[in-house]
Amino acid sequence: MNAIRFSDLCAQGQVTGKRVFIRADLNVPQDDAGNITEDTRIRASIPCIKMALDAGAAVMVTSHLGRPTEGTLTAADSLAPVAQRLAELLGRPVPLLQNWVDGVSVKAGDVVLLENCRVNKGEKKNNEELAKKMAALCDIFVHDAFGTAHRAEASTYGIAQFAKVACAGPLLAAEMDAITLALANPKRPMVAIVAGSKVSTKLSILMSLASKVDQLIVGGGIANTFMLASGLKIGKSLAEPDLLSDAKAVIEAMRARGAAVPIPTDVVTAKTFAADAPATVKAATEVADDDLILDIGPQTAALLAAQLKAAGTIVWNGPVGVFEFPAFENGTRVIAHAIADSSAFSIAGGGDTLAAIAKYGIEKRIGYISTGGGAFLEVLEGKTLPAFEILARRASA
Ligand code: 3PG
Repeated sequence: MNAIRFSDLCAQGQVTGKRVFIRADLNVPQDDAGNITEDTRIRASIPCIKMALDAGAAVMVTSHLGRPTEGTLTAADSLAPVAQRLAELLGRPVPLLQNWVDGVSVKAGDVVLLENCRVNKGEKKNNEELAKKMAALCDIFVHDAFGTAHRAEASTYGIAQFAKVACAGPLLAAEMDAITLALANPKRPMVAIVAGSKVSTKLSILMSLASKVDQLIVGGGIANTFMLASGLKIGKSLAEPDLLSDAKAVIEAMRARGAAVPIPTDVVTAKTFAADAPATVKAATEVADDDLILDIGPQTAALLAAQLKAAGTIVWNGPVGVFEFPAFENGTRVIAHAIADSSAFSIAGGGDTLAAIAKYGIEKRIGYISTGGGAFLEVLEGKTLPAFEILARRASA
């Protein structure tokens, strides 16, 4: 990674007494009451904050939460629950400041959390005036928001252009190093699992992986579209029929290299999308017009598990079924355990994937867990993310 590392600045004594602005990704899932349901990203942001505090800096941290409307802060957009969790993890108070763009009061050795940066007008469009104001708040800008590294927004990109010093935080650096290392010379066979509701949102990663991996396991609505492309009926399941030719192109690209997209041979169906809907296991050729496919069947799960156990490298993004509903979680559970049991180096990312990893308690048996969703996929695709582009430019300037 070609960027100044914050850890190096700390080791060189360049951070003591300085105002440090850390852009973290604290965008965590919450339930309807606002309680944090999964805090991996908050825990992952702690080393950078501690590094800055230990170095004697005056520390400002911000993040987006969700996709709020710029210019208005509703209770649901507030980082208040995040401030509370940060305070617990750091064992010290973390005051939450609002309306902070024009000035922040914080002493050396203290940390403050700056309210949801996406409510600032101009954030999403990387407004130059906003970015310059944020840059003026600090001596050192630290980009540690790997989950947002694929966005060029005022608090991730513009501030990095205009801050006196712009560098990579330890999480951003570790994510990039780990993913690059895993993919530079992967042990074969390499298996990728890409699941989610829509082919359209993951088409470029599917195309890119089709030229790299030996098995491309698709799940969720994506698998339904691939089943359709293979001539199977999927009833009223979620799919994108207008992307059939793209799905066929992925299958063909894999076949041409002697690789494969395994199509489910059995599925678990229901008549309605509900936790208590009766589940029926049936052959993939037997799906009725009024069926919804909500999971892969046990035969398919066992076959995929065997492939995962024999893999050299596994990339995992997305659960293969509606694992939140016990009747439709078998496929995801079998796959999760197969990944955990495999001697392959496994790398996993994406919000739903992290939730599945937590549900099955396999955190310690995954080679590397990324905090990125979209960013993780874009690095896998081989794209240069805006965060790395601007930090490299600042490092060489
Ligand atoms: C994520 O959850 O993937 C990141 O926090 C980025 O969020 P965004 O897709 O709303 O930019």
